[in-house]
Amino acid sequence: MPTTRTNATGAIITGWGSALPERIVTNDDLAATLDTTDEWITTRTGIRERRIGGSTTELSVASARRALEIAGRSPEDIDALVLATTTPDRLVPASSAGVQAQLGLSCGAFDINAACSGFVYALVTGHGLIALGAERVLVIGTDTLSRITDWDDRGTAPLFADGSAAVVLESAANGGQLLGWDLDADGSAEHFLYAELGGFIQMDGKEVFRRAVRIMVDSAQKSLSHAGISADDLALVVPHQANIRIIEAACERLGVTMDRTAITIDRTGNTSSASIPLALAEALDQGRVRYGDHILLVGFGAGMTAASAVLRWGGQDHD
Ligand code: ACO
Repeated sequence: MPTTRTNATGAIITGWGSALPERIVTNDDLAATLDTTDEWITTRTGIRERRIGGSTTELSVASARRALEIAGRSPEDIDALVLATTTPDRLVPASSAGVQAQLGLSCGAFDINAACSGFVYALVTGHGLIALGAERVLVIGTDTLSRITDWDDRGTAPLFADGSAAVVLESAANGGQLLGWDLDADGSAEHFLYAELGGFIQMDGKEVFRRAVRIMVDSAQKSLSHAGISADDLALVVPHQANIRIIEAACERLGVTMDRTAITIDRTGNTSSASIPLALAEALDQGRVRYGDHILLVGFGAGMTAASAVLRWGGQDHD
């Protein structure tokens, strides 16, 4: 079922952009108010600093503007907006409504909440809309986790942060980029990682860590199998940036070396729905992705969700 149907209209990413709040909070800044150290946070998580500030709507508008600019598209060119976020600015309406208005779009707009797997869920949804006839879809991943983080809790405060990244998806004549995808959820594990309405993130860190590695690897292997390629064929893995040790363990099990992995966690912390597109946008800006390259996006999050997608950059018919 998750293999892209060959008769469906495919899509390619034609623009990308990211937006991070200006305010940098270092580990030493946290250690000034919490019983922790830069050394503990860096060694256990790989995080050195994170960005804090802004609203989900503001950050989404900023990243989307950059993505539209790179794609060379105007607001009227966009047929649908999908915003992945766990931290909407209000319960109702969806934050995508404000983003749609501020960007000047005149299309349908909706939010998706699949926690840190959200961007891949939204990207797959965007491909589905294009298969059903949309020409161009704006897909954004944004979270402002600082607003649901207890800054007095040393077990969670060092991990979570704010950010946004967006892509423009356009229909493609050559079959498109999506070779395989997988969306998973196990609601029976939701109590390991959650936030009540109006509350802070609660987490059993050890259990989340243990499950994260397994479900990321499982999801990645399903997408690779649907795509008909192996991990050796991947030019780049773009994993959810939750903990460098989770990324290292998952990549080791997949047989992917760290030099083929996109890492931003040292500077961004865990930005949930924004984490994968932020790392993808940075890799693209750095010229790490070439036409025809195979890329694996893979994440996990509260739910507990997992999601992955194998893309062939530029589309399927490239020689
Ligand atoms: N500074 C100093 N010491 C600390 C800190 C801190 N910030 N936090 C915990 N400790 C202490 C603990 O109290 C414990 O002390 P003890 O041995 O005296 O009891 C010790 O350090 C070890 O704690 P552990 O919890 O065993 O540390 P661990 O190595 O498991 O690392 C961490 C904790 C970083 C939270 C890790 O478990 C992790 O990353 N888990 C996954 C979390 C995750 O990915 N969450 C996001 C999911 S995505 C989403 O949907 C939002």
